[in-house]
Amino acid sequence: MKICMIEKIKVYGRQKVNGKVRISGAKNAALPLLAAALLSSDGLHLKNVPPLTDITTMLALLENLGITYQVSKDSPYAHSVKLKTDALENFTAPYEIVKKMRASVLVLGPLLSRFGHCRVSLPGGCAIGVRPIDLHLKGMEALGATTELRDGYVHASAPNGLRGAEFTFPIVTVTGTENVMMAAALADGTTVLKNAAQEPEVVDLANCLNKMGADISGHGTDIITIQGVTSLHSSEHTVVPDRIEAGTYAIAAGITGGRVDLLGGDFGKLLPAFLDKMELAGLVFSPIDDGLRVESSGKILPLDVDTEPFPGYPTDLQAQCMAMLCFADGDSHIRENIWENRFMHVAELMRMGADISVSGTQAYVKGVKRLAAAPVMATDLRASFSLVLAALAADGDTLIDRAYHLDRGYCCVREKFADCGVEMERIK
Ligand code: EPU
Repeated sequence: MKICMIEKIKVYGRQKVNGKVRISGAKNAALPLLAAALLSSDGLHLKNVPPLTDITTMLALLENLGITYQVSKDSPYAHSVKLKTDALENFTAPYEIVKKMRASVLVLGPLLSRFGHCRVSLPGGCAIGVRPIDLHLKGMEALGATTELRDGYVHASAPNGLRGAEFTFPIVTVTGTENVMMAAALADGTTVLKNAAQEPEVVDLANCLNKMGADISGHGTDIITIQGVTSLHSSEHTVVPDRIEAGTYAIAAGITGGRVDLLGGDFGKLLPAFLDKMELAGLVFSPIDDGLRVESSGKILPLDVDTEPFPGYPTDLQAQCMAMLCFADGDSHIRENIWENRFMHVAELMRMGADISVSGTQAYVKGVKRLAAAPVMATDLRASFSLVLAALAADGDTLIDRAYHLDRGYCCVREKFADCGVEMERIK
């Protein structure tokens, strides 16, 4: 899967979004699904995989472990990936790959469970928070593994195999739940995960594992029960639509006073708290064939937003929401409850004229009448899209540096916006 890396993106201001957007498969579902291929020697066929650099990174990691794969382009927005998993020869996830993408840690559970040992690099720092993996490791230890931190790597082993156990996550962790659930799929006996993540991407993974022969129930609630089986087999699975991409384009309609048809999913179910908040902010939603219509009511009202694990308001839509609230008719308050450092976009939005103050994990946004173009810099995936959104509604043309962050999680941004009558230019 070849992805073109871009450096800068020029967004023309004062544009109105009006059209349809086909939503791609969810990055955060596709990543654990790709890792799940490691659980069987029989291969896995994934459809609706989004063409993104994070997916390329995960494929490089799997290739490094001995998996071979074929990618076919079903459309510019969706690829199929056939993975062959019968010749694994390496059980190390190296620093060079893991440092690029923290979700690489998702290979730990499957490798440990199928082979009884592995070595996974610790990911290191990250723009949005410290992001430890202690709960992934505690979960593996509860299943009988030993883990040791040495030379920057986690050395995990379970020479006699993993045993089912009860484990309660002290805080909700999405990839932690996915990792331990994958490990438990091949453990001996029953595992009960309490305070498990309920995100649709966790449910999608459990559904795929069940198609592969696993025995998982309760996914989508905070208690997941996994009855271990001795082996998994090949299957075909279509990745769930990306609720964060859908929410991002919904905000694009809101911030520009436009309208967008989000196609390809039941977004009401995937984004309950988000839709409630956006209605309060003045967006109007109506169901359409194969999706959801989002229309601006012509005004943007201030909001009080708390980010929470699913089904609460997603942290991955916090930066985009903040960009819209910069234009609200009044003062908004955002509490970021998941990540300790996810306000990097604030300084950039302020360079465009936003009036925001931050105190710890809380941000106060005073609505202003206008933002003006300025050179700005993307710091992480969601922050970069918040700058694109602000730029669409700002006066003048905004140049966003380090726009490669976008390609990690949003596919074909320019093309999808072009389908909505909106222009932007990529500058290499
Ligand atoms: N945490 C720990 N210890 C752990 C694991 C997590 O303290 O072992 C803490 C984290 O530091 C954080 C909180 O628990 O404060 C929640 O983190 P979580 O583990 O749920 O995050 P994640 O699984 O690493 C996934 C998404 C993120 C998304 C979060 C929260 C993937 C690949 N990534 O990360 O997505 O923000 O859940 O919903 O699924 C993004 O797509 O832009 C993105 C950052």
